[in-house]
Amino acid sequence: MNGRVTRSVAIIGGTGPAGTGLALRWARAGESVIIGSRNAARAQEAADVIGKRAGANARVSGMENSAACAASDLLVLTVPFAGQAGLVKQLKPAIRAGSILIDATVPLAASVGGRASRVLGVWQGSAAQQTSELVPKGVSVVAAFHNVSAELLNGDADIDCDVIVCSDDPNATQVAMELAAKIGGVRAIDGGKLENARLVEQITALLVGLNVRHKGHGGIRITGLPDSAYKTGPVAR
Ligand SMILES: NC(=O)c1ccc[n+]([C@@H]2O[C@H](COP(=O)([O-])OP(=O)(O)OC[C@H]3O[C@@H](n4cnc5c(N)ncnc54)[C@H](OP(=O)(O)O)[C@@H]3O)[C@@H](O)[C@H]2O)c1
Repeated sequence: MNGRVTRSVAIIGGTGPAGTGLALRWARAGESVIIGSRNAARAQEAADVIGKRAGANARVSGMENSAACAASDLLVLTVPFAGQAGLVKQLKPAIRAGSILIDATVPLAASVGGRASRVLGVWQGSAAQQTSELVPKGVSVVAAFHNVSAELLNGDADIDCDVIVCSDDPNATQVAMELAAKIGGVRAIDGGKLENARLVEQITALLVGLNVRHKGHGGIRITGLPDSAYKTGPVAR
């Protein structure tokens, strides 16, 4: 990983609601953000919009996905499950050794024409574990940000949601927790091994169903853990 001062966060598939929302929050928090897309012009367009919203000092650029991978060793993957494996395979040569890849992909049945309130079975156990099988050796995969509403991320208010972070690499977990805690209102919680991503991804399907039923933007809060279990940023409560 680069040092904190020079690093960029590259969001692969960053032109959709999840990617733009995360980019907006991190750009506002002072992170240098790269929006990745299959199309460089589309990436630049999204970066311009986010940059304007994030303020004068924001550092947001746009690149084709493989260029974004080559430019950063801190990657966030925000693509529909149906495109996830193919994209990761395609990007494999561009992913730098030692990178951290934070996967927010939820294997919603909607991504293959089914219901958004159902998850697909994934042979590897979870979408994140599938990614972990496909990235170059030595790349640490983290599962995070599945349960945060993209609509809320794209707004201005603090977000009433915890982010459960799962990885087999404790350093990668810490990096992802720090990023999560930069989102106002969010508390990051170490959720243990990457195999737990299966459980966290499934919560999203429940939330989608609740959102439809109750017309809201539900999130999750884990209560009852010691204060030390929750990582919060300066603005989180
Ligand atoms: N929406 C939410 O509230 C939310 C919250 C948490 C997690 N998530 C998860 O985050 C991921 C992204 O969500 P989203 O709502 O932002 O999705 P999305 O808008 O459907 O897709 C995000 C971006 O992925 C790229 N993409 C689409 N299909 C692709 C394919 N077959 N191959 C490669 N790239 C493709 C597109 O970018 P380009 O066309 O520019 O390449 C698109 O703008 C999903 O897995 C979702 O389950 C979503």
